[in-house]
Amino acid sequence: MRLLIVEDYDELSVRAAEMVAEAIAWKPNIVLGLATGGTPGGCYRELVRMHRERGLSFAKVATFNLDEYLRLPPSHVQSYRYYMDENLFNLVDVKRENIHFLDGLTMDPERTCREYENAIKASGGIDFQLLGIGSNGHIAFNEPSSSFQSRTRVISLSEQTRNDNARFFHSLDEVPRQALTMGIATILEARVILLLASGVGKAEAVAKSVEGSVTEMVPASILRTHINCTMLVDRDAAVKLTMQSLSSQG
Ligand code: GLP
Repeated sequence: MRLLIVEDYDELSVRAAEMVAEAIAWKPNIVLGLATGGTPGGCYRELVRMHRERGLSFAKVATFNLDEYLRLPPSHVQSYRYYMDENLFNLVDVKRENIHFLDGLTMDPERTCREYENAIKASGGIDFQLLGIGSNGHIAFNEPSSSFQSRTRVISLSEQTRNDNARFFHSLDEVPRQALTMGIATILEARVILLLASGVGKAEAVAKSVEGSVTEMVPASILRTHINCTMLVDRDAAVKLTMQSLSSQG
């Protein structure tokens, strides 16, 4: 795993977008795995700018999003589908038929998850996976204690995650208790992984993931075993790393 420490959130967003754009230039029909949350917003803003100003095209790109809240319709402003439409899909030339999303309104979650796994395989697999990290070390919605062998499935959200995400809702009560998420094994099959972390709120999760034991209690720690994973973090998110001066060499 490669650790890159940049100055601040703006630099992190630009660097991340450049890496995504380079990947698209290398393979125009790339299969992208996409993340939601506050962190990737700046990266998506940059990608939209690159689309408008530099002609970066998503016309052949296929996308698979990591997760979705269970029982939130795509029209709900806090659904991840709504987030992606507003922050990226509606603003670039990605084809609707190439966008893949877990259906939060499914009546048969197990089947939906199985079909998602099959669709990823049928696409040839995810070439480039963008990830955020929860303050408890979760990736997608794989909460601590999720098996490293886990596949796409329904998960109950921890109180910490519900509290963290309550800032996007009117109240904690409104935050869904369950979600659909790609599994950890599913994520690890991506050929390239880029994890973004920004702010002191992520410092502990970053330190545990990078310097602690590889354990299912810190889901992101397994990324250290991936052959082509980069953790791109800003100074604030790196403050608890003991080796930060060495790792900032990139
Ligand atoms: C949610 C998402 C994760 C994301 C995490 C951190 O729980 N399911 O994919 O990484 O939030 O989000 P933020 O970037 O808003 O801190």
